[in-house]
Amino acid sequence: MKSITITRPDDWHLHVRDHKFISSILPDTTKRFARAIIMPNLSDPITTTALAADYRARILMAIPTGHKFEPLMTLYLTNQTNGDEIKRAKESGFIHGVKWYPAGATTNSDKGVSDIATCYGALAVMQDVGMPLLIHGEVTDIDVDIFDREEKFIERFLGKIISDFPNLKIVFEHITTEQAIKFVENSGPNVAATITAHHMLLNRNALFKGGIRPHHYCLPVLKREHHRKALVKAATSGNKKFFLGTDSAPHTEHAKETACGCAGIYTSHGGIEFYAEIFDKANALDKLEAFASFNGADFYGLQRNSDQIILTKKQTKIPPSIAFGDESCIPFRASECLEWAID
Ligand code: NCD
Ligand code: ZN
Repeated sequence: MKSITITRPDDWHLHVRDHKFISSILPDTTKRFARAIIMPNLSDPITTTALAADYRARILMAIPTGHKFEPLMTLYLTNQTNGDEIKRAKESGFIHGVKWYPAGATTNSDKGVSDIATCYGALAVMQDVGMPLLIHGEVTDIDVDIFDREEKFIERFLGKIISDFPNLKIVFEHITTEQAIKFVENSGPNVAATITAHHMLLNRNALFKGGIRPHHYCLPVLKREHHRKALVKAATSGNKKFFLGTDSAPHTEHAKETACGCAGIYTSHGGIEFYAEIFDKANALDKLEAFASFNGADFYGLQRNSDQIILTKKQTKIPPSIAFGDESCIPFRASECLEWAID
């Protein structure tokens, strides 16, 4: 049986939700990953260091006994975020990034940024203190086609941000297009990107295969096949600028299977296994460890993990649904198989 041992990975983009929901899903992450960048888009977003401290305490409470896990907290950028809040965040030692959600771009982004110019004071301090800006890179204009939102964001915002803040550390989150890959490749070493497994496993046909598929709906939305192939190529290239971020984003079954279903795909039950499958199919298993366990830690200026995990190529069944608070959540590839297993 094919098997590889790699340094324990980290998840550089994760949604763990709040309260009773955290404990339903967090074990899937803590079983695989040592750390995760925790997204701040709760219904009451994590806009201050004080809120992040409380949220962190709720996450720590939900870690199963025997598992070691460090939540790497983030702040949610708003038009009101100021430089003092950034300094407090940096001094806390537990906040590792500030997330820019363009207002209206995705789940719980209504209180996000409607005018990035209002954030220039905060961005200047972030550049000074070395606090990364994590970007949901999609424009929200109603006249821009949903499949072009990332490309347009690059044109309209990213070039300007980089020329105004040339030393700001930037993570372009969950990139989905050839344009985003090129942008990151051509930028300086302070610009990197996360890539999800689902954007490398599926193209946009998966949204409509035999009927409408709400469990394949996420943001940024799945793209064309040539973009999917380019993402696999970038992730498996060995380029240090690309690293693992699942963007595992659970919603209740009910919130997905309705007339206006939420965006988000739950993948933490196969958080590293899906990537092993992708790298194996691309004949690049030797590149998995850097992508999953080194590049993100190096970019964020954190120590690499010291323990290891073993991955084996063997099929295991994925349940049709998982418990999620008092409700259920349909995991990615429900009732099908994981092709790789973690020991
Ligand atoms: C995320 C969520 O549900 O919080 N949804 C998603 O489709 N990825 C938000 C996000 O990261 O865009
Ligand atoms: Zn996300």
